Amino acid sequence: MEEQVKNQFAVVTGASKGLGKAFAIELAHRQFNVILVSLPGQDLKQLSDWIAKEYQVQCFYYETDFSLDDNIRGLANWLNDNFDISVLINNAGIGGSIRFEEADVDYINTIIQVNAKAPAILTHQLLPNLKRQRQSYVLNVSSIAAFSPIGYKTVYPASKAFIHSFTRSLRVELKGTNVFVSVVNPGAMATNNQACVRIKKQGIFGKLTLQKPERVARLCVNKLFKRKAVIMVTPVTWFLSVIIPLWLKVPFLTWVVKRELKHEKSIYNRG
Ligand SMILES: NC(=O)c1ccc[n+]([C@@H]2O[C@H](COP(=O)([O-])OP(=O)(O)OC[C@H]3O[C@@H](n4cnc5c(N)ncnc54)[C@H](OP(=O)(O)O)[C@@H]3O)[C@@H](O)[C@H]2O)c1
Repeated sequence: MEEQVKNQFAVVTGASKGLGKAFAIELAHRQFNVILVSLPGQDLKQLSDWIAKEYQVQCFYYETDFSLDDNIRGLANWLNDNFDISVLINNAGIGGSIRFEEADVDYINTIIQVNAKAPAILTHQLLPNLKRQRQSYVLNVSSIAAFSPIGYKTVYPASKAFIHSFTRSLRVELKGTNVFVSVVNPGAMATNNQACVRIKKQGIFGKLTLQKPERVARLCVNKLFKRKAVIMVTPVTWFLSVIIPLWLKVPFLTWVVKRELKHEKSIYNRG
């Protein structure tokens, strides 16, 4: 494995922080050269320099906004022109809780674009490169939210259901090739500020699936290289996805998120 990865690169989107940063560090720790991708202005250079020094690997970075198709193509062209890619981790993703009627068009569009379109287009554009390597791996980051529609989140679970379904379809299509595609459906992780506040507000329900991003990244990379199709991070995720029927989980999860919004409103009103 070590010989194979020497001149090959792992691309991690959304690598500036949270789970993406944990993926980049985990892969560098395993002696992969890494390419960090994220929005501009997030100190990617600093992280890239630190990873290169700390793990003695090559580390590059690329700043772009995935909410525009042309930017995704631009990134793919740069990667194809300069690197042999053997690992692609489509991790960048955004979400939130809001009444659908109150969401503006940009909010809806950006979630669909970053969570669903970007990974599909990037994977499509990098496939010839991935196929040229002896073995290559694609990991798409979905969410536990993919297993149930959730009111007041609406677009987010739909985007994560898309990426889950997309991955499983592509995996079957690529069977017999040297490209292995996996999807992970994590539960709550205390990554960004928004996620921490949300998990706190969800009380016991938020804590049920709570995991550290570093642990999730390590587990995912292990299972990715074992060619697991669907990576479940905790037994609770598995339970929610398989056992509980939709008629029960849709109203329940919607109730949990509605409580979170109500709480937000009361804080807002007090202000
Ligand atoms: N945290 C959770 O509880 C949780 C649970 C289940 C699934 N997930 C999924 O796990 C993944 C990582 O989540 P996280 O909590 O680690 O998120 P995070 O800390 O908010 O990091 C998200 C990353 O995506 C990047 N990004 C956001 N919008 C982008 C855009 N328009 N163009 C390019 N990059 C963009 C961010 O870049 P900047 O730093 O430049 O903003 C950042 O690097 C996401 O796909 C998320 O849906 C998270």
